[in-house]
Amino acid sequence: MDIEKKMKEYAERLNAYLTHVLPPEDLFPGEFHRAIRYSLFVGGKRLRPFLTDTVYGLYQDDGERPLPFAAALEMIHTYSLIHDDLPCMDNDSLRRGKPTNHTVFGEAKAILAGDSLLTYAFELMATCSSFPPEVTLRAIGLVAGAAGFKGMAGGQFVDIDSEGKELSQPLLEYIHSKKTGEMIRAACLLGALLGCAPEPEKKAVDAFGKWLGMAFQIRDDILDCTGTSNTLGKSVGKDNDAHKATFPALYGLEESCRLADTATQKAFDAIKGLPVEKAGILREIAEHLCRRTR
Ligand code: IPE
Ligand code: IPE
Ligand code: MG
Ligand code: MG
Ligand code: MG
Repeated sequence: MDIEKKMKEYAERLNAYLTHVLPPEDLFPGEFHRAIRYSLFVGGKRLRPFLTDTVYGLYQDDGERPLPFAAALEMIHTYSLIHDDLPCMDNDSLRRGKPTNHTVFGEAKAILAGDSLLTYAFELMATCSSFPPEVTLRAIGLVAGAAGFKGMAGGQFVDIDSEGKELSQPLLEYIHSKKTGEMIRAACLLGALLGCAPEPEKKAVDAFGKWLGMAFQIRDDILDCTGTSNTLGKSVGKDNDAHKATFPALYGLEESCRLADTATQKAFDAIKGLPVEKAGILREIAEHLCRRTR
């Protein structure tokens, strides 16, 4: 089965779980719950949960078990998108093919919807995990690290701070590995951690996730230049307008494509030591993401 189809099927499973665990829209205050559900259910590839599920599936066959963790990753990712789109950040009006959260609900409510998705993610992991307490704690620690100053929020800070400034490769690598790479790395490693992968395989999956995340954000930068808002579901060409720190801004498009390939190659290299069937599954995902158009 091709990766696109697998991702779609998994997204349906995850969405059913998310629908079940999120407060219904008729719970007071209804507008708050509508704002929370709006950005989550409006679309999205569900890549991070899919990565956790796929890696977990390399080691265990009870695929329902990681759902609270997979759902938590998607909630944190969605919160990061709501905040990323705010006027004080990237000031975007289109996300996942629909008007952004703050455009519909207003800035203050969008911030609160984001806050709630972030905190509920941790509540869900802490209260719905069926893994032993020590595994649950390590998993929560991993996700917290990837979302906070060592990860997504840290990368977002430097991304905003770098607008209009002189770019360098180390700075770009810092931003991309943190703002996007850490959550993708954590998604992969989470699957290995929950799945009780042998230690050397955990290390391999960790390095795979790191390079996959880098390739993913380079591709995101490229798509901002070459994609269409119809396909991507978000506005295009804005990185250039905002003088963002992107790979195309520093290297041009052609070299950026080559660097995305190099990062993908490094992801392949990281899993060379895995059993061939496992490596093959992960390789297919990395190949697909490197060529993605949305
Ligand atoms: C967009 O992430 C923001 C980045 C980290 C590049 P995705 O491309 O995974 O967005 P969705 O979840 O599919 O909307
Ligand atoms: C944001 O990167 C990554 C996040 C942590 C949300 P971008 O600002 O490039 O993401 P898009 O292009 O708006 O999805
Ligand atoms: Mg941004
Ligand atoms: Mg943005
Ligand atoms: Mg972008």
